[in-house]
Order: sequence, then structure tokens, then C-alpha cells
Amino acid sequence: MATHLSPTSIIETLRSVLRFAPIEFDAVERRLKRMANVEDFRKAARRRMPRGVFDYIDGAAEDERAKNANIAAFSNTIFRPRVLRNVSKVSTSTTVLGKPVAYPFILAPTGFTRIADPQGELAVARAAERAGLPYVLSTLATRSIEEVRSVSGGRLWFQVYAWRDRGLVAEMIARAGAASYEALVLTVDTAVAGRRERDVRRGFSLPPMIGPGTIVDGALHPAWTWDFVRSDPIRFANVSGRDVGDGSTAVSLAAYIDSQFDPSLSWSDIEWLRSIWDGPIVLKGVQSVEDARLAADIGLAAIALSNHGGRQLDSSPAIFDLVAPVADAVGGRLEIYCDGGVRRGNDIVKAVAAGATAAMGGRAYLYALGAAGERGVDRLLEMFGEDMRRTMSLIGETAIDGLNPDCLT
Ligand code: FNR
Ligand code: LAC
Repeated sequence: MATHLSPTSIIETLRSVLRFAPIEFDAVERRLKRMANVEDFRKAARRRMPRGVFDYIDGAAEDERAKNANIAAFSNTIFRPRVLRNVSKVSTSTTVLGKPVAYPFILAPTGFTRIADPQGELAVARAAERAGLPYVLSTLATRSIEEVRSVSGGRLWFQVYAWRDRGLVAEMIARAGAASYEALVLTVDTAVAGRRERDVRRGFSLPPMIGPGTIVDGALHPAWTWDFVRSDPIRFANVSGRDVGDGSTAVSLAAYIDSQFDPSLSWSDIEWLRSIWDGPIVLKGVQSVEDARLAADIGLAAIALSNHGGRQLDSSPAIFDLVAPVADAVGGRLEIYCDGGVRRGNDIVKAVAAGATAAMGGRAYLYALGAAGERGVDRLLEMFGEDMRRTMSLIGETAIDGLNPDCLT
């Protein structure tokens, strides 16, 4: 027999099940509330940015095997969780190059960051400082060494490409020193440009051009295009006004790298670098145990195991897979960073457990910046820290020192 509810009891029932969320008037906040992980940021960035710009960031060399392998190596690694180990207090803090970090992660250098958001490198540097993490400014940044320092009192490192014009390199390094950058990161996986086929197909240039081929792309992404046309023209800010090309004429990145970077760079050049820089030097782009040994033998402070996020040599080794053999060979003699494929704090825990001092990453924060600007990067860096604490609690480790290969199967 059906029972008939009175109008008042219907209202009572509805009241108990309906949830009225307060209306969020801030559009960025509304977007951020829907972002639960890096893949959500990636999808949002893809919707927001012209496809050519998204593909430059998201893409990699040739068949993109190295990029995918970097990510898969983390996915294929399984923890060996321990239980009943009192995880009421978990700390992710540790040190990198002798100074504290909130958790073992370094924001990798990425060129041309203003294509993702008009604030570009300034936004990333501020967010990194708030999160208590070091940020590596790229040689090919679109905000200068000094501009970035002027907005950040945090830990800044400077990434160096070996230009044919060594005078220019020496000058940039002196500027980085004067602006209290703490370390140099020499990138050595870019003797020649990798073949990024998404950019080849689109004829992608830097700065991006609005022309017949891209006007529809731009019109379909009005918010990005409006920001882009309203802000100062994008320049390669560290070489502004120099005759090496500063972005005032659009170039294909491959042509630029092949004409400006010096493919004769070799181990003997590191001596030169040391003669003009007193601080720590990090070699970024090491992909073998042999080269890791050479770097340790000449007394470098650190190596970043890296294949440039799969953007240079395709079918290079998955970076996470290099960590354990390299740590076995040179662990304790220099710091080891695992750069490539990090999409969760869980991955950072794996990298450190395998023997890395810290993880490093680029695309994750670029997706967040492209999706929601500076606040997107803030949110991403909070997420990574929360992920790490949760993962450590669930595997039964309370401190970074406790992470070791036994935490992995
Ligand atoms: C890079 N990377 C890079 N590296 C470098 O030494 N100098 C640079 O200017 C750039 N520029 C750059 C631009 C973009 C759009 C990306 C995605 C990457 C490589 C970067 O430092 C890092 O090695 C990778 O991003 C690591 O891989 P994930 O984290 O992107 O998977
Ligand atoms: C790149 C260059 C800037 O990976 O290093 O696109």
C-alpha cells in the first residue's frame, strides 16, 4: 500500500538530500575546483590554448616513444607497502644542494613559458617560491634573469645552453651570479635539435605567429589569443637585442638550435664553465651509467638524468629506469635528479625510493599554467606535496630518509 507524503515531509526529504553549493563567481577558482590531477590540467590546457602551442608543449620527438616510456616506467613500478608503522607524522622535507626544500622536486627549465600564460616565468618563479621549491630558469626564457629575480626571493638556478658565441654564455652566467642564482644547469642533450613532428606538421614558430594557417586556431581559443595580443611581444629575454636572434623575427626552434647551439661541446668545456662559475654545476641530460661516472669523477655537484622529456633523442632510455643503476654506480658522490615523466607526487616518491635525490619536471607545471595561470601552478605544487604525504603514509614511511629500494617491488 502506497504511503502518501504530505507536502511538508516532501520538503523535509528534499532538504536532506539536496546540496546547494555557494555560487563561485571567480572563473579560475571554478576551473581549479574541477582539477583533480595533472591529466585534468593537461586537458584544460588543451582546451584553452591554440593547438599549435599545446602541441609544442605536449609533443616530443619522432614517435614520442621516449616521452611515453618516461611516464610508463613510473606506471609499471609497484610499491611494497608496509603497515602498522605509526604514520601519524609524515614529513616530506629534505635538502637539495645543501639547502632545504619542502619536498624533493625541482621545477625544470622550460623555454618560452609566456606562450602558456602572459606572466610566464614570473608566475612559475613566484609559485615555486611559495611552495618552497627551486626553479630553474631556461636560457630561452621569455622573462630575463633579472626580471625573474626581482619577483622572487626563492631558490633560483640558471640553465645554460652552449651557444656558439661563448662570450654571450659567459655574460649570461655573470648576470646569473650577480642576481644570486645559486647553481648552473648545463643541458647536454641538445647537440642538435630533436625532430618534433607535431611542430614540423604545423610549421610552428617561436614566437607563435598569427597568420592564415593559425588564425582559425587562434579564433577557436579566444581567451588565450586575447591575452597574447594584449601583452608585450614575446622575446627571448636573456638575449634581447643580441644578434643571435631574440624572437623579434619568428623562427622554427629546430633552425634556431641548429644555427646557434654549439655541437662541438665536450667534457673539456666543463673546465671552462668551472673557470667562470664558483657555485654548483648540474649536468642535465645524462642518460648512461658511464656518463654519470664521468660527471662524478670530475666532481660535479649533481646530474639530472634526463632525455629532455623525450623531446630530443627518441627511443632513449626511460629516465626512471636509469635511477637505480646510476645510484648504484655513483650514489653518494653527487646528487641525482630524475627528470621526465613525473605526473604525480606518487612518482616523486618512487624516484627517491629508487635512489634519486629529487625528481624534476616540466610539462606538469606548464599544463597547470596553461590551464589556470599562476594559481594553477600553486594548486599543482600543493597537490604534489599532498600526494607525497599520502603515498608515504600508505607505504609506511614517515621521512624522505626512509625511502629506499625496499619500498618498491
Ligand atoms: C623543455 N625542456 C627544456 N630543457 C632545458 O634544459 N632547456 C629548455 O629551454 C627547455 N625547454 C623546454 C620546453 C618545453 C615546452 C618542455 C616541455 C620541456 C625540458 C625540461 O627541462 C625537462 O627536461 C622535461 O620537461 C622533463 O620531462 P616532463 O617533466 O615534461 O615529462
Ligand atoms: C625545448 C627547448 C626549448 O625543449 O629546449 O623546446
